[in-house]
Amino acid sequence: MDTLTNFYFSFPTRLLFGQGKFNSLGQEAAQFGKKAFLVTYPSPTLADQVDQAVAMLKAAGVETTLFRKAEANPTHTVADEGAELARSSDSQMVIGLGGGSALDLAKAIAVTATGRLKIWDIVEGAPITQPPLPLIAIPTTAGTGSEATQYTVISNREQQRKEGFARREFYPAVAIVDPLLTVSMPPAITAQTGLDVLVHAIEAYIAKVATPASDLFAREALRLCSRYLRLAVYNGNDLAARTNMMAASTLAGIAISHSDTTLAHVIGEAVGAVFNTWHGLTVALCLPAVMEYACIGNLEKFAQISALMGEDISGLSTREAALKSPELVRQLIVDLDMPRGLGALGVTENEQVLKLVTRPGWDAASPRPASRQDFEILIKGCLSPQMSYWRALEEAD
Ligand SMILES: [Fe+2]
Repeated sequence: MDTLTNFYFSFPTRLLFGQGKFNSLGQEAAQFGKKAFLVTYPSPTLADQVDQAVAMLKAAGVETTLFRKAEANPTHTVADEGAELARSSDSQMVIGLGGGSALDLAKAIAVTATGRLKIWDIVEGAPITQPPLPLIAIPTTAGTGSEATQYTVISNREQQRKEGFARREFYPAVAIVDPLLTVSMPPAITAQTGLDVLVHAIEAYIAKVATPASDLFAREALRLCSRYLRLAVYNGNDLAARTNMMAASTLAGIAISHSDTTLAHVIGEAVGAVFNTWHGLTVALCLPAVMEYACIGNLEKFAQISALMGEDISGLSTREAALKSPELVRQLIVDLDMPRGLGALGVTENEQVLKLVTRPGWDAASPRPASRQDFEILIKGCLSPQMSYWRALEEAD
């Protein structure tokens, strides 16, 4: 029987979704002032889109300061540098254009440009006391869903830490989500970022803090991702596939903002902090083993995952249907020609990773809690080419 729980839902971002919506940037920016701080990558693949953005802003009477220092796993030092430049240029808004790392960096800059706090102070728990600069988020990948979340993820190389954390102030004021911006993404990046969407949808759905509202977004994101990710990877010009993957990414972002991620992100972020691996791929390669580990904690939801991923579960018991779900994810990873297991990325067993994942409470959202010993076996499973917790458990016995 379904039990309706108490839940909270709030989504303060004005979201514009659709092919060609990028063209509304000038009009959206003009409402916030005449000086914009544009955060993006130095990469030449985005050069045209950056030029277009600057031209649209200029036509709307908005002057742009360019900050092309976004990179994978953005650091607190680059965020501090950006905040200082945003302040000294009297910028009235921040625009993030790029993948999740560019948007996360833009969020950190928008929140710290108006006060004395540095972003690592906020990571360590300092309250945000001043309103941030308004942020316009424009994703060019279908991946993190950062345009629709109150999360940012910032790395500290000296401390070998990478922290994803939530504050209401990180929600963008406006998100311009235009699937046409993703058409030029190469297949490997489409696959890696798209797998992050899959992980968000599944983890938001299975998390202990999931709500009826987050489930709606998570289920639809998972359905779309299961149906369209292969198409988007193998035919990048398929606009229906690109549009549905972009929608899945944004919906999954709303889902994790109203639920949480679980052990695939806990392990994946720790691995990213130590080995500087790509986020989407890292968490995806953890997911099959994490699902094998966690599924007994909520068989009904894992059975639903199998159905949402297109498996015919009629005639199966709930347990049988649930136990199929890790294999469906593994099959998707194989179909997309991704590396098998974290070991293939050069990741090895590592004490700092274990230390980060076993911090008290970091397993709180998981449908099945994990002890240090559980994590040790689970990580062995994530590293292995089979990406299997069950197999790692057998070998440990
Ligand atoms: Fe993620």
